[in-house]
Amino acid sequence: MGGQPLYLEPRLESRLRSLLTSPELLHTLTDALGSPLNLVVPDQLADNLRQFRAVYGTHHLSGQVFLAHKANRSSALLRRLAATDAGVDVASLGELQHALGAGLTPDRITATGPKNPEFLWLAARTSVTVSLDTRGELEQLARLVRRHALPRARVLLRLSGFEASGVRVLTRQSRFGTAVRESAPLLGAVERHADVLDLVGVAYHLDTTSPTEKAVALEGCLRVLEECRSRGLRPRAVDIGGGFGVNYLADGGQWERYTTELTEAVLGIRPPLTYGGHGYGLRNEAGTLRGTLGLYPAHRPVAGARYLDELLSHPAASLGGRPLAALLLEHLYDLHTEPGRALLDQCGVTLTKVLEVRDQEADGPLHLRLAAKADDVALEEHGVLMDPVVVPRDPAGRGAALTDPAGGDAVPRVLPGAGGDAGTEPVAVHLFGSRCLESDLITRRTVFLPRRPAPGDLLAFANTAGYCMDFHATRAQHQPAARKVAVWQESGRWRWCLDDQYWPTTPVGGAQ
Ligand SMILES: Cc1ncc(COP(=O)(O)O)c(C=O)c1O
Repeated sequence: MGGQPLYLEPRLESRLRSLLTSPELLHTLTDALGSPLNLVVPDQLADNLRQFRAVYGTHHLSGQVFLAHKANRSSALLRRLAATDAGVDVASLGELQHALGAGLTPDRITATGPKNPEFLWLAARTSVTVSLDTRGELEQLARLVRRHALPRARVLLRLSGFEASGVRVLTRQSRFGTAVRESAPLLGAVERHADVLDLVGVAYHLDTTSPTEKAVALEGCLRVLEECRSRGLRPRAVDIGGGFGVNYLADGGQWERYTTELTEAVLGIRPPLTYGGHGYGLRNEAGTLRGTLGLYPAHRPVAGARYLDELLSHPAASLGGRPLAALLLEHLYDLHTEPGRALLDQCGVTLTKVLEVRDQEADGPLHLRLAAKADDVALEEHGVLMDPVVVPRDPAGRGAALTDPAGGDAVPRVLPGAGGDAGTEPVAVHLFGSRCLESDLITRRTVFLPRRPAPGDLLAFANTAGYCMDFHATRAQHQPAARKVAVWQESGRWRWCLDDQYWPTTPVGGAQ
């Protein structure tokens, strides 16, 4: 393929960088436990939590950070979380049982999402706070508490359909939560069931990257809290859900260049950049670009805790223009957050073994077949485009794909290989999975690697802990789902154990 390689290098902070420059460990693990293999880094979760807490500190706010458990099934991550002061947001009976079993006490658990009667019962039985989606669910919980003589249930009312007054900002449609314009009958139901339900506050979760939409929702929540107080209710918290985002890429320039050239490829101005000319939502209609790019904004300098900081600093347009954080503080409301993806930033890697490297006619991109299915590396499913890191089987012979500079998030560098003919030039590849299905592509993007890989090498996909590890994994075709291993550093060395063997006492000295 002509032209310069279009890299999308992953952002690697020091732990992941160190891990990915430990080829012997990575190959030993995949030799023993198979490919694909998921690695989780529990200590990184504790660091990410500290960053969220620091933002609370900056704005003098109290409240809880709840990890959205759905983003990763790992026991190690949950048990590491239990060793901090954070909480967990559970969205199924199984997740609630898992959280209780990991040592999270009910005061540190909140139950969200669609609920079956068993999930509701266990949440109410253990006094976990329940985020109620609808008036129907509220009535169901009230009946359950009465019938089984359960403790008075702590509840949040999840709201949706917020509208900014004056300016035309509408928050996006959601199947969850009660429309804010229907909050009056909901509050009426809370009052009627006050003997069995204790209103803790209101909540929202918006599946958007837009801080403006989220600010509109938070303002809407503040107005409903005022309405509660005027009715004599005593709410004390607002839960703003998750969606703080992750910055996946090291280099914004690479992202700009890739998206520009993708557009040109769709318009036919340059050769295709994807398998089968896929346009990621863009299409060429008689020379005019149509559609919308359906990709995650993979380079996001303001993500995670920084995004929370920005949201809290946002002026509340309909409430005097003061920052949202100031309004929360003034009313002494607790601020609860439920980050999933953002709290798991840099917390995991998925390793896949290269099974086959096939040349194509006319110098087309190589076909690489990996010992993994597309479901095992679900970055593409989430619209995240990011290069894998090549971990050679024999780093001494063919040059390492990545060095480990002391700097945290420096751009990965490519070391020239020592070997003569083993492929030290960049190559374009298409990454296929191991399922007997035309569509089993790990990514439809033409990926550029710093050098030609060989069977037996590993491709390491960084930053997969949030939704891209086990959320979509299946055992289709009797192929194994990836096993999971927890890794941590002790006296400068990487140690590991199976995910379900990890407890905060496992590392020498225990997790801090
Ligand atoms: C209620 C709720 N809270 C939190 C989250 C976590 O979102 P994210 O992983 O984008 O932070 C989700 C995700 O679906 C959710 O539904």
